[in-house]
Amino acid sequence: MKIPETIQWAGGTHGTVELIDQRQLPAQLQILHCKTPAQIYEAIQTLAVRGAPAIGVAAAFGVCLALRETSNDLPLAAALEKVSDAVGYLNASRPTAVNLSWALKRMQAAARAFSGSAEQLKQRLLNEAQAILDEDRQMCEAIGHWGEPLVPDGGAVLTHCNAGALATAGIGTALAPLYIAHQKGKQFIVYADETRPLLQGARLTAWELTHAGIKTVIVCDNMAARLMQQGRIQAVFVGADRIAANGDTANKIGTLGLSILAKHYNIPFYVAAPSSTVDLSLDSGLQIPIEERKATEITDILGSGVEMPGVSVYNPAFDVTDAENITAIILEKGIIRQPDRQKVAHFLKDTKGQNGQ
Ligand code: MRU
Repeated sequence: MKIPETIQWAGGTHGTVELIDQRQLPAQLQILHCKTPAQIYEAIQTLAVRGAPAIGVAAAFGVCLALRETSNDLPLAAALEKVSDAVGYLNASRPTAVNLSWALKRMQAAARAFSGSAEQLKQRLLNEAQAILDEDRQMCEAIGHWGEPLVPDGGAVLTHCNAGALATAGIGTALAPLYIAHQKGKQFIVYADETRPLLQGARLTAWELTHAGIKTVIVCDNMAARLMQQGRIQAVFVGADRIAANGDTANKIGTLGLSILAKHYNIPFYVAAPSSTVDLSLDSGLQIPIEERKATEITDILGSGVEMPGVSVYNPAFDVTDAENITAIILEKGIIRQPDRQKVAHFLKDTKGQNGQ
């Protein structure tokens, strides 16, 4: 079975955003048809669409939806106001992945620089959102090619959460090197952490890798140490939601622990991300805003509640891995080995449109 695109725009300026509803996977493959910014907001907040690059693309198309129903004779100033409102609104849907605000800033800038009719603005914004999607697809391919030599032939890798096709408009970030290695005929196993509480690893990573014919083994999050101690993991590949100027990296909760384990067992720990994930305005990972999600994500297990009166829940969706635990950051333009502030700055100094630049 060919898996549909994770996200795409269907139709002209009066079109819709088509998203795989990731809340339903793997039980059902359903497509959401979004017609309003509010539907995109809800899809992002409830993780129907998730993963840092994918939510950036979804939000960019969400801005286009703000003008979908407007009449042909709307003055440009009124259209620009609607765009600004949509940008502010969508930006509040999730706080940690910087790709969201990065994409929205691009949409806002395209609108502000535009002169013409409100009707023409619709097409201009659609072109910009489509460019964000196309560039993301290309960045995933490039990350895959840079990262492929790091994939062990005949070994096993561990990944956490889902940083694959379902998290991007292309072949993913952390999973991109694995897809390219598989195409080249390398033999390896992927251990997918199930990723409590929302099971992105068990539900999404296992689903997409298995469809691609890559051998995948699901493990509970607390089994990584055992696997590493047994010498069964040769490399760890994870994605990122935000990379600070010093190379500290936010990713799905549990990533920090894996990085500490990998360091202990001397296993390479790779972070793969497009440069839209780098936020040079933040000095260190301590400044990355970490989303806290609702308690029921932890207490509702397989449909039955486990909460007890008087017991509260702490549910941070992300944690921050210290740069010193990272063997290399794989970007679309190359690899930063043993990342630190100087190397990140040096590597990105020629990159245009970086967050914080
Ligand atoms: O809460 P999620 O599912 O959006 O978290 C996703 C992750 O943490 C991914 O690893 C990250 O966004 C990188 S996706 C290419």
